[in-house]
Amino acid sequence: MGESVLGWLDERLGLRTIYRTVFDRKVPKVNWWYTLGSATLFLFFLQVVTGIFLTVYYVPSPDHAYASIQYITNEVAFGWLIRGIHHWGASLMVVFAFAHMLRTFFMAAHKFPREITWITGVFLLLATLGMGFSGYLLPWNQQAYWATTVGTEIAGTAPVVGDFIVRVLRGGPELSALTLARFFAAHIWFLPVVISLLIGVHLYLVIRIGISSVPEEEE
Ligand code: HEM
Repeated sequence: MGESVLGWLDERLGLRTIYRTVFDRKVPKVNWWYTLGSATLFLFFLQVVTGIFLTVYYVPSPDHAYASIQYITNEVAFGWLIRGIHHWGASLMVVFAFAHMLRTFFMAAHKFPREITWITGVFLLLATLGMGFSGYLLPWNQQAYWATTVGTEIAGTAPVVGDFIVRVLRGGPELSALTLARFFAAHIWFLPVVISLLIGVHLYLVIRIGISSVPEEEE
């Protein structure tokens, strides 16, 4: 029964071909360092799932943001756990993406024909850091407020365009409700969409080109 349903779907959707292309690929004999990309991918999924749950109660306005996070942490069933996973997962994702970058670099996996995999990776790391920066403001507590004041101030030291960047980031000369609104939009819409598209290209290339093998020592 299960087999015939699967066969029926497969005839129409080509599921087995997709499965074979994505999961049944030939890979060289690799080691644990090669799992860092998948670990980063897993952490991204974890952040998406826990983040979606957090938006159920989080309110992105200066009047309610702080209280809504207190409510999530102290009142909502398992809210502390979801928030805790999202909090620690954020730092872990940065650490794993960075470690994954180091591993591909030191194993020379960024060279021909994987340059575009590397370049999409660079943007993935930047977008991941952007997620950390935008997420940090959302609790709207003293630490978040002043860290973002300093962070945006630093961006403002860029020559010529500095002042413009500060205004775009803050939505005005000072941090305000506008800042919180745009950081929230960046955190839950812009950056996750950018990251998802980049991961799509990144993994398409990993599948298309195949994984690099462990470099051998020269004699
Ligand atoms: C959200 C962040 C990222 C995710 C989810 C991700 C995911 C992956 C996965 C699953 C693989 C295949 C398995 C592996 O080699 O570990 C891979 C390969 C690769 N990644 Fe990433 N990656 C990310 C960030 C980066 C960064 C920051 C760089 C470098 C700047 C990078 C460069 C590469 C390269 C060059 C490969 C090919 C490795 C090879 O063929 O041996 N990636 N990535």
